[in-house]
Amino acid sequence: MDITIRRILLADATVLAQMSKKTFFDTFTGTCKEEDMQAFLEQFYNLEQVQKELSNLDDFCFFVEVNGEPIGYIRFMEDNSDFPEANEWKSLQLKRLYVLKEYHGKGIAQKLMGFFLAYAEQHQYQLVWLGVWEYNCRAQKFYTKYGFVNSGYTHDFPIANTPQTDFYFWKFLK
Ligand SMILES: CC(C)(COP(=O)(O)OP(=O)(O)OC[C@H]1O[C@@H](n2cnc3c(N)ncnc32)[C@H](O)[C@@H]1OP(=O)(O)O)[C@@H](O)C(=O)NCCC(=O)NCCS
Repeated sequence: MDITIRRILLADATVLAQMSKKTFFDTFTGTCKEEDMQAFLEQFYNLEQVQKELSNLDDFCFFVEVNGEPIGYIRFMEDNSDFPEANEWKSLQLKRLYVLKEYHGKGIAQKLMGFFLAYAEQHQYQLVWLGVWEYNCRAQKFYTKYGFVNSGYTHDFPIANTPQTDFYFWKFLK
C-alpha cells in the first residue's frame, strides 16, 4: 500500500464533506435518534461549513490516502476555547481523527497520529488534547496507546437533541 498524508485543499471540500458525514455516521449511528443524526450532519458537515474551515489556514486538515484515494482525515488547531483548563500551556487540539471503517486496525490511524504528534513537537506544543465520547472505547484505547490520559474534565457534546458527554483526554509533551 502506498500511504501518503497531504493537506486538504479548498478544492477537496466536497470530498471532505462526504467523508466527514460517512465516518461520523458510521461511528455514531445507533447512539442517537436518526433525525438527530441527520440534523447534526447537516449542521456541521454542510459544504459551506467545510469550505469555511478549509479557508482558515490556522485550521489544519489532512487526508491520509492509499494509492491516491482518501481513506481518512485528521483536523487539528491551536484552540482552547472548548477547554479553558488547557490555557496554562501552549496547547494543540486534535479536533477530528476519522478513518473509514474498512481501514480500522490496519495502521492507518497510527500514521495520522504520528503525523499529528510530530507536528506538535516540531512546533513546541506542551500539551495535546481532544474530546472523545465516553462510550467510544475503541478510540479511547487507541489514544491511550499514545500516552493520552483522561484529564478528568468532561463536556457536553449533544448530537442535536440527543445529549452525549465527551471526556477530555490530554497528553503532556516534553
Ligand atoms: C479511533 C480510530 C482512529 C482508531 O484507529 P484504529 O486503526 O481503529 O486503532 P487500533 O486498531 O490501532 O487501536 C484500537 C484499539 O482498541 C481496541 N478495541 C477495539 N474495539 C474495542 C472496544 N470495543 N473496546 C475497547 N477496545 C477496543 C483494539 O483491539 C485496539 O487495541 P490493540 O492495538 O491493543 O489491539 C478508528 O477506529 C476510527 O476512525 N474510528 C471511528 C472514528 C472515531 O471514533 N474517531 C475518534 C473520535 S474521538
